[in-house]
Amino acid sequence: MSALALTVSSCDDGDIKTSSAVTFKDGYVVKVTGSLANASSWNELGKSYTLVVAGFAEGDSFPTISKIIPPTSESIDITLSGMENSVSTVELCAINSIYKRVVSYDTIFSFQDNPDWDPRDTIFYEADGRDVGVYCGIYSKLIAGKGKCFRCHGEGSAAADMHLVGKERSYAELVGVDAKTVSGSKRVVAGDADNSVLYRVATEAKTDGALPWHYDHVSNVDGLEYNNQKLLRDWINAGAKMN
Ligand code: HEC
Repeated sequence: MSALALTVSSCDDGDIKTSSAVTFKDGYVVKVTGSLANASSWNELGKSYTLVVAGFAEGDSFPTISKIIPPTSESIDITLSGMENSVSTVELCAINSIYKRVVSYDTIFSFQDNPDWDPRDTIFYEADGRDVGVYCGIYSKLIAGKGKCFRCHGEGSAAADMHLVGKERSYAELVGVDAKTVSGSKRVVAGDADNSVLYRVATEAKTDGALPWHYDHVSNVDGLEYNNQKLLRDWINAGAKMN
């Protein structure tokens, strides 16, 4: 009897700590707290981009529900409530001026993976210093990952003598470094996308004329579509900072 009382009371303690912050209304509740790194780098790109906690329906890149993360805040405390059933993932991401997701840093919760989640249980997410900087987003979305740059620039081979594996290393091999393929040009000229070979490689296709880099990236490498090209351009023109 006393053992049971103990168990119940320790469960209650846990519950009081976690559920006192938000009250269940109608739909799921997600609470995001903790610290973020480099959130303010989005500010430097002007008003086109916003960091958000957002819920997306399956296959959709426009959020059903979202809350802005203030770019100046080092620690956040954001509650997303009243989430509809159509939401399949909740993500920590950046959206552009038409509210389209451009970078997703983390899936906070997947309803697909947790189909039996009780809506009365708040979903907690601790950001824990997560890097949400612009370059981190470009690196993880455009450069790293399956079918992207690593297979020719880093893992095993290094076309144009360029290794892009790792956030720091890729940055160091791109920004301010002389290009191998276009003499007199740099891979990334901070503040000048049009004269940055990286931007040209990511936007010029063979149909535009002979390519000095001998490989049509635009037609063959995944992810070089308009939104990403624009993000690359905005980042370079804003000074191509790492953080
Ligand atoms: C299938 C192989 C392949 C993939 C994948 C690939 N590249 Fe390349 N890349 C090349 C080749 C080949 C060259 C030209 C090398 C040469 O002409 O010496 C090149 C050249 C470049 C250059 C010019 C470098 C310089 O110094 O002139 C940049 C920048 C570049 N790639 C960026 C990327 C990025 C960013 C990605 C991923 C989005 C990527 N590449 C994916 C093969 C690839």
